[in-house]
Formats: sequence, structure tokens, C-alpha cells
Amino acid sequence: MQTTPFCLFVEGGHKLKGEVVVSGAKNATLPALAATLLAPGEYQFFNVPWLIDVQTMLELLCRLGAQYETTNTALILDTSQAKDTVAPYDIVSRMRASVLVLGPLLACYGRARVALPGGCPIGKRPIDFHLKGLELMGAKIHQEHGYIMARAPRRGLSGAEIIFDFPSVTATENLMMAATLARGQTIIRNAAKEPEIVALGEMLIKMGAKIKGLGTETIFIEGVKELSPTEVTIIPDRIEAGTYLMAPGIAGGEIIVKNVNPFHLETVIATLKEIGLKIEIEGDKIYSQKGRNLRPVKIRTAPYPGFPTDLQAQAMALLSTVKGTSVIIENVFENRFLHVEELRRLGAEITVEGRVAVIQGVKKLQAAPVKATDLRASASLVLAALGADGVTEIADIHHLKRGYEAICEKFNGIGAKVWEAPCQYHL
Ligand code: UD1
Repeated sequence: MQTTPFCLFVEGGHKLKGEVVVSGAKNATLPALAATLLAPGEYQFFNVPWLIDVQTMLELLCRLGAQYETTNTALILDTSQAKDTVAPYDIVSRMRASVLVLGPLLACYGRARVALPGGCPIGKRPIDFHLKGLELMGAKIHQEHGYIMARAPRRGLSGAEIIFDFPSVTATENLMMAATLARGQTIIRNAAKEPEIVALGEMLIKMGAKIKGLGTETIFIEGVKELSPTEVTIIPDRIEAGTYLMAPGIAGGEIIVKNVNPFHLETVIATLKEIGLKIEIEGDKIYSQKGRNLRPVKIRTAPYPGFPTDLQAQAMALLSTVKGTSVIIENVFENRFLHVEELRRLGAEITVEGRVAVIQGVKKLQAAPVKATDLRASASLVLAALGADGVTEIADIHHLKRGYEAICEKFNGIGAKVWEAPCQYHL
């Protein structure tokens, strides 16, 4: 018997008021979990968001032989028996970030078999930087039956100078992890500078790695013989925080977003202020209120510290009802406008040409059945629906659960009306 799928329902028109606590960052958790393969043993993680992607990474580590348990406050992960070196297709195809185990497995065990991630809705997303970097470090890599087969030479990987064409986040992480156990020095040039990379580097340093230049475009890693397990507190999720900060601009009202690192959101905050939201920072809290007159803006996504591509869709939802013409240029991924069709179903006026979206602000959006196309696109639909007339039904909400912890509870806690129920239109 087929069961009715669940959808997310959002009743628009409720002004927001209250406080929302941001979870730990998904994109910091995934590489941190993969890094445990570098030094088999017991790790304690705090502030881990309980998300599908995090559970998928844990499932992958368990397939390799790891075990974990959770307490009220911590995730305890034991990788002492994680000796398998195969990341199978059924897991990698669910989450591309599974490729993060490649560098650690190769560095620690001298071999890895990782399924090729396959198609991805937001562009080609190749992994050539990861592979080229590992080859420069001496790895022998070939493809066989849909798997990347990688082997390190008998004496292990050796340090190399790696220059990226583009500062890829997970490639920087993968190679930084691999380099911690390589012989000699590795230099990564045009490295990504995201806070999640700095957090991973700090974890590796706690484990005994020698790394300099974190947060800059040149990272130096001096290989060491071995690393040891450690304790890690995951940094706050700047993308989740940014999503909530935008919400009053759409629904009206005022909220406080707690457990944030405002330094990680400087460009986002500057953009929201330019749009006309009233934003105030106090320690790890950020206050956000809809200003009187919101203004159209031009946003260009860029690697950190630029405006994050992971907040592009949400910003588009916000700009959909800001009077005037806004422009968004997507510079990181070549096909990250899948949410446009869905926002149009809600009444937004958006045209796209290549990497440029032009948004003509409308007075109000109207509820309609829509489909989530990827993780951040689904968050943009929730935001848009908060300001729409009527009840919006969002299908394919598994995307949302990959990256937003307790989204119904969190939005309802600030006065919105969001709930999950069997789909009515999407059957
Ligand atoms: C990470 C984030 C994702 C975010 C993205 C950009 C994680 C788990 N995911 O993804 O949420 O949207 O950064 O901030 O942290 N590229 C290549 N070859 C490669 C690698 C990347 O051409 O080998 C290109 C990609 O196609 C893309 C650009 O580089 O156009 C940036 O991608 P990248 O930074 O690698 O994204 P991810 O690390 O996959």
C-alpha cells in the first residue's frame, strides 16, 4: 500500500516575534566527522545538528566500521574499528559531501574506494580539484565501475603545492585532511576561507596537525606521523542564522537570532541593512526587524567572505516583495536558480538569463502548491510562504531536513504557522 507523502504547510500573514536559537553548522559537522578517520579512536562532539546529512555521514562511518552513541549533549563517535575503505554508491549518491572521507582514508589507510557522486540539481559539481590535488600528493587514482579507486604509494602521500582554479570548500577540506599525515609540507593556494574550513583546521590542530594560514587563501600544512582523537564543539550555522534573519523582512515583525557568530555573517548583515532591515548585534545575538521602506539591491554570490551562494535563494524570496528591481548574480554554481520557477508559482516576477536573475518586486505573493528542488531552495519557499496570502503546501521536504533542524518548531516559536501533514495536492 502506498502511503501519502508528507508536505510542509505554511500559513502566511503572521507577523514574527520572539527568539530563535541557531543550531550547529551542518557544513562544519560533515568534515569534522570525516576527520575522525585520520586518527582512529573516541571523539566527543558538542552542538551537533541532528540533520539527515549528519545522519548520512554517520551511516557512512558506521559502514566503515565506526560506532556512535548520543547523550543529551554530546555525540560520541568511536572510529577505532573503522577500517573499511569503501564509500558505497547508495550513500554517496544521497550526499555528495560523502567524498570528504576520500582524503582521510587515503592518508590513514593508503587506499580508498569512493563512489562517484553522480548528477546534482545545482550544477555539474565535479570533484576534479579533489582528485588532482591527491594525485599531486602522489596518489594513483583511476575510475572503475562508477568508483574512484585511489591508492597512496607504499610510503604514503607526500606534501605538494596545490593551486585551485576556484576556492572549492570541500576540496580544500579534503586535501587539508589528507596533507596532515603526508610526508613534508603541502601548500594549498587559492584555498577556500569559509569559517567551516577554519573550524576544521582548528580541530585538526587540536588533534596534533601542523597547519598555518587558516582563513587566508594560502594554507600551509606540515605533515605529522600521527594524530590523536579530540573533543569538538561545532560552530553555529551561519546559513541557518541568515535564513532566520531574513524572515522579518518578508513576514514583518522583529526577532532575535541567538547562538550566532556575527563575524561569519558580515556580508549578509551589510546586505540586509542595505535592503532596509534593522539589524543590531549584541554578543552572539542578532536582532532583526523589518524596516519601513525596503529597497531593491544587487547581490553577487561569491566564496567567503562574499555573499554565500547558500543564502542566494532565500535572498531572492525576500527581494520578491521589495518594490523596485533587484538583481542577483550567481557566481559559484552555474545552475542554482531552480527555485525561480517555484517562486513564480507564488506570484514572484523573476526573469533569469544565464547566471543573472532580475527580480521585479510585487506587492504580495499568493500561496500555491510548490516543490522543493534542493536544500536552500526549500528554505526560500518557506520564507516566501511566510509573506504569502493563504496556505502554501511545499512538497519534497526531505531537502529541507538535510539542512534545517526543527524548522517547524523554530518558526512557530517566533510566531509563524508552519506544520507538516500529509500532502493534499502533491500525491
Ligand atoms: C560546499 C558546501 C555547499 C556550498 C558550497 C559553496 C559543504 C558540505 N557544502 O559545497 O553548501 O554551497 O560549498 O559555498 O560544505 N568545483 C569544481 N571542481 C571541484 C570542486 C568544485 O569545478 O573539484 C566547482 C563547483 O562546480 C562549483 C565551485 O567549484 O562551481 C564551488 O564548489 P565547492 O566550493 O566545491 O562546493 P562544495 O564544496 O561541493
